[in-house]
Amino acid sequence: MWRLHLHRSVLLALALLCLGGALLASPPPTTTRSEAELRAFYQRACVGCHGPDGTAKDPDGKGLKGRDLTELSGPHGPSDQRLVKSIQGGFFFGLSMPAYRQELTEEETLRLVRNVLRKARKGEPIQVPAELSASAR
Ligand code: HEC
Repeated sequence: MWRLHLHRSVLLALALLCLGGALLASPPPTTTRSEAELRAFYQRACVGCHGPDGTAKDPDGKGLKGRDLTELSGPHGPSDQRLVKSIQGGFFFGLSMPAYRQELTEEETLRLVRNVLRKARKGEPIQVPAELSASAR
């Protein structure tokens, strides 16, 4: 009796999970943000954990939650593909870092990695062109 009960509730939980997944899954994005827009996206979405310059420190030097993105490049650093995968998929079910696959296309993510994150330098905030910084998204 107990076994049957357990079995049923597990099935029910699985069914609800699948249903939830199907309802939550939205189509992938079709945006083509410019580099300036990607910089604005960084300053909106990533700055809280990775800091204005990518070092994962706030302007007062206080440590933030993210990783130091200025340390990613170099001979033994992770590949572009690995970084794209990390940004698209997030970390620890989005608790440690959100997944951005619903907000950035893979192509945008690759350009964000190559043209913005890989060029981040300590103490040099990732610049957003003035005409975009007001309406940043
Ligand atoms: C809620 C905090 C948070 C936000 C927001 C966030 N990150 Fe992260 N990020 C982290 C943490 C924590 C790690 C380290 C995760 C680990 O290794 O477990 C990380 C790691 C990374 C890495 C290194 C991945 C690797 O494979 O080594 C990159 C690149 C990165 N983040 C980019 C971004 C970008 C781009 C954004 C915005 C679109 C962003 N993050 C938003 C917290 C955050």
